[in-house]
Amino acid sequence: MIERIEQLRAEGERDVAGAATTAALEEARVRHLGRRAELPNLLRGVADLPPDQRGQVGRAANQARQALEAQIAARAQELEGAELDARLAADRVDVTLPGDPPQPAGRLHLLTATRREIEDVFLGLGFTVLEGPEVELVHYNFDALNHAPNHPARDRTDTFYVGEDLVLRTHTSPMQIRAMESHPPPLYVVIPGRVYRRDSDATHTPQFHQVEGLAVDEDITLADLKGTLLAFARAIFGHEREVRLRPHFFPFTEPSVEVDVSCFNCTEGHLRDGSRCALCKGTSWLEILGAGEVDPNVYAYVDDERYDPERIAGFAFGLGIERIAMLRHAVPDLRLLYDNDLRFLEQFG
Ligand code: DAH
Repeated sequence: MIERIEQLRAEGERDVAGAATTAALEEARVRHLGRRAELPNLLRGVADLPPDQRGQVGRAANQARQALEAQIAARAQELEGAELDARLAADRVDVTLPGDPPQPAGRLHLLTATRREIEDVFLGLGFTVLEGPEVELVHYNFDALNHAPNHPARDRTDTFYVGEDLVLRTHTSPMQIRAMESHPPPLYVVIPGRVYRRDSDATHTPQFHQVEGLAVDEDITLADLKGTLLAFARAIFGHEREVRLRPHFFPFTEPSVEVDVSCFNCTEGHLRDGSRCALCKGTSWLEILGAGEVDPNVYAYVDDERYDPERIAGFAFGLGIERIAMLRHAVPDLRLLYDNDLRFLEQFG
């Protein structure tokens, strides 16, 4: 009897060790410890044995059963772990992989990138960004900006008229008036946008972009204008730049200036090899914008007594985005910006 028990135990151990899956292990368990298996039956029959055999047989059968149960539990753990690992490996999806096929990311057009850079500089200086209409009243485009009734820019050969009193704005300056009409001083704004003129050659397109600037506060002087534009010039063209103000005329500023930035391409008009700098044409200065102190006459067009030229003062400036982009990147022809040739555009941004 004891021998049979040892034999059953050995057979059970071999089967359990050989089970390669949890299903095979369960079959082995039923075969050796299930209700109809020999070992459990043997245990149940211990009570019927002669008393002198009961203890020995009972102990041996019990030990065999316990040993098999423990072995099955250990083997089950091993197999479950391995099967989970296999499932995880088979199901692995890397959600961080790029989609298929990868989409080209694209990039900003040079003019968009330049506009945003200019906006960022002025935002950093405390200005707010505004926008305004491209179809504009003659009142805002010319009259309220102090243009004389016979000013040549009003001519139909220079300006696109949409109606008797309506033009495609020729500059962003009309937004000076609109900004003052809708916001009391102090006012610090920049206004980017499209403008239109009847002009077309290597440096003029019928549609182009400007950024207008306007600061109105108590005690604004030309020195504030110069400091602001110096900060702008250094942010855009490099921290070693200087700016220069030259007297000029605009109907809506008094005094008016044209502003130059020192050339970033040469030293005093000459390249290292001694030849003349083509960018500044040997002058060592690059004209970048028009500006001035807001003409007191302009405030009279703003129907708001808080814009009283006796109590406030302001500066204004207007720059061409194309010009800034072309200077910075040595773009030889303005029309390249509008040809949509990717071989050109992909060099930027
Ligand atoms: N509006 C002018 C133009 O298009 C540029 C300009 C000059 C704007 C002087 C200004 C300014 O605000 O003060 O040529």
